[in-house]
Amino acid sequence: MTFTATDLHNFLRTRHSIRRFKTDPVPDSVIQNILGTAAFAPSAHNRQPWRFAVITTQVVKEELAEAMAVDFERDLIRDGLAPEKIQVQIQRSKGRITSAPLAILICLDISEMDSYPDEKRQYAERTMAMQSVAAAGMQLLLAVHAEGLGAVWACWPLFAQETIRRTLHLSQSWEPHGMFFIGYPEVLPQARERKSLEETAIFI
Ligand SMILES: Cc1cc2nc3c(=O)[nH]c(=O)nc-3n(C[C@H](O)[C@H](O)[C@H](O)COP(=O)(O)O)c2cc1C
Repeated sequence: MTFTATDLHNFLRTRHSIRRFKTDPVPDSVIQNILGTAAFAPSAHNRQPWRFAVITTQVVKEELAEAMAVDFERDLIRDGLAPEKIQVQIQRSKGRITSAPLAILICLDISEMDSYPDEKRQYAERTMAMQSVAAAGMQLLLAVHAEGLGAVWACWPLFAQETIRRTLHLSQSWEPHGMFFIGYPEVLPQARERKSLEETAIFI
């Protein structure tokens, strides 16, 4: 089978964030394929500083949801949010974790990168590492789409890095940066609006 450029652009443009899933599990071979393809992302110095924790066990999902909820609740209380609104948000975030058939945590292992004595180069190196992890995240989302699955990228692990590391017994050098909730889509959402090229690009 050959694909035209139009087919491939169409594939790239029909990836949407999916937030509601059927209960069907994602087969192990599919998980392996997704992670294998994510690893083909480009990375600074080809260091591949991404790390993945694959979570399929319900008890682990529940443990993680409970632990992260403690951090989340503390932050929302600090923000001065009303208790009933806090509970709504907490229940929603717990539900996201426990109801997804598959959750994949993406981490950055900074020990893979160079280190510099000066702040400017160290900042650049760290930025490169994060860009590399983000590239792997994007590639993972596209691999998920290729499998006919859906996923959403959740940023909130950034707010609970230590809690996640402790709960999942991760190595100290793994910094949690995001989590992907993955499964067979229950509903296919409409494409979200995009800014026009005039707003985001200049041609010089
Ligand atoms: C770094 C990053 C963090 C995100 N965090 C969240 C999140 O915490 N919760 C959520 O529902 N969606 C999250 N998203 C998904 C975006 O909301 C979504 O990509 C955007 O609205 C565009 O929609 P689309 O993915 O369907 O094209 C995140 C996306 C990225 C790239």
